[in-house]
Amino acid sequence: MAEPEEILEAVVQHFGPRPLQGKKVLVSAGPTREAIDPVRFISNGSTGTMGYAIARQAANLGAQVTLVSGPVALPEEGPWELIKVNSASEMFEAITTRSMVQDLIIMTAAVGDYQPVEVSTTKIKKEDKNLVLELGRTRDILKHLGDTKPKGQILVGFALETNDEEAHALGKMERKNLDFIVLNSLRDFGAGFGGTINKVIVFGRDGQKQSFALKGKVEVAADILDAVCKTIQQ
Ligand code: CTP
Repeated sequence: MAEPEEILEAVVQHFGPRPLQGKKVLVSAGPTREAIDPVRFISNGSTGTMGYAIARQAANLGAQVTLVSGPVALPEEGPWELIKVNSASEMFEAITTRSMVQDLIIMTAAVGDYQPVEVSTTKIKKEDKNLVLELGRTRDILKHLGDTKPKGQILVGFALETNDEEAHALGKMERKNLDFIVLNSLRDFGAGFGGTINKVIVFGRDGQKQSFALKGKVEVAADILDAVCKTIQQ
């Protein structure tokens, strides 16, 4: 017999409200890995949980979902087309080749901002002296999406901040030409990478600000899509 959660999901998918029916939604999730040599990389602590929850909720609301995911330890099976990537440049390629046909793009991925300028083809052997790695910038996927956004597409970014949270988040929305930015503050207990709970504030381009309580990431995903869907229906 199917698990109770699967039965509930099937019921919600069938009978629940479907504001994203017929819409194409792309969600990015997880970290990226920037190779140093064949066995080492630079990455971050993103688990992908928030992005996978958003992708699932978008499908529950009727969307045709493409999930572009960095390396995570979450089940791959889901109501989506899964595109697996490793590096920031692979994620750039996977997303930008699919972006123009999307109605909604939600960038939850913790994309690496820097990558080693040179990647050693053989394993780097340790020496007594310090090792200096030169890092170059990766491309900002969200900024590129904002610069090339087709008419009518909704673009949502995430911001994880430790100080002057609201100002930084609003600055990112403006700079990257976003319709919404979702702010996680590391000052809020439980918010951010890892774990199953999150606390977010959703800012809209039209000046709206919705603060949500600390709750499970599945509920947070529903809140975020609720806020976004109101704009799509207008
Ligand atoms: N992002 C992206 N491509 C990058 C880096 C980030 O698309 N190379 C996206 C993330 O998915 C997220 C948002 O941009 O939606 C985060 O904004 P960003 O300014 O990059 O935040 P930080 O990486 O935290 O950078 P900063 O040091 O400016 O705070």
